[in-house]
Amino acid sequence: MDIVFATGNQGKLDEIREIMNDFLVRHNIRLRSLKEVGIDADIEEDGETFEENALIKAREIAKLTDCIVLADDSGLEVDYLDKAPGIYSARYLGVDTSYTVKNNHIIDLLKDVEGEERSARFVCVIACVTPDSKEIIVRGTVEGRIAHEIMGEHGFGYDPIFYLPERGCTTAELDPAEKNKISHRGRALMGMMEKLEELLA
Ligand code: IMP
Repeated sequence: MDIVFATGNQGKLDEIREIMNDFLVRHNIRLRSLKEVGIDADIEEDGETFEENALIKAREIAKLTDCIVLADDSGLEVDYLDKAPGIYSARYLGVDTSYTVKNNHIIDLLKDVEGEERSARFVCVIACVTPDSKEIIVRGTVEGRIAHEIMGEHGFGYDPIFYLPERGCTTAELDPAEKNKISHRGRALMGMMEKLEELLA
């Protein structure tokens, strides 16, 4: 059986395959990208929540395939900034702006803020739409704080400023397997795999 993951981001798909590997092998499922199944879709993510955006993507792709479709939407919420950049994380300060600029900007906005007031979280919502139009939504989060400086070389996006107090490092300082164990995406995928187990039973 094939499951289509509605992303054009190869790095994200590799991370997802790694997290779902045992599940995929056990159920003899191939996780396929849009490119691999020949779907070229430009979907407008005009929802107001992570849930809405993930569902918009999954529903649109489900119209184009007979497979189960998964889609995700994720981002960083900074409490001091009223949960910005949130669903606009990828577009924050412009899609072509480097993450060095985006990350330094957030550090700058929080320059007079200390301790718990620097709280933030990564959010990942995954939506599933089946060929018979069943819909499942799961949310995974990881809590942290905005670091005072950019730290770490792993990961992507806002990882270098996402500080985990209990680990004493940013998610960009964790090796990828460690990040997958605790990340918002890892947690959302775990939740989705439990739901898919029930669906496939
Ligand atoms: P999307 O879910 O592909 O729309 O991406 C959302 C954006 O949120 C990414 O482009 C990053 O800016 C940010 N983001 C989501 N997950 C992570 C993560 O694990 N680390 C760092 N940034 C992330």
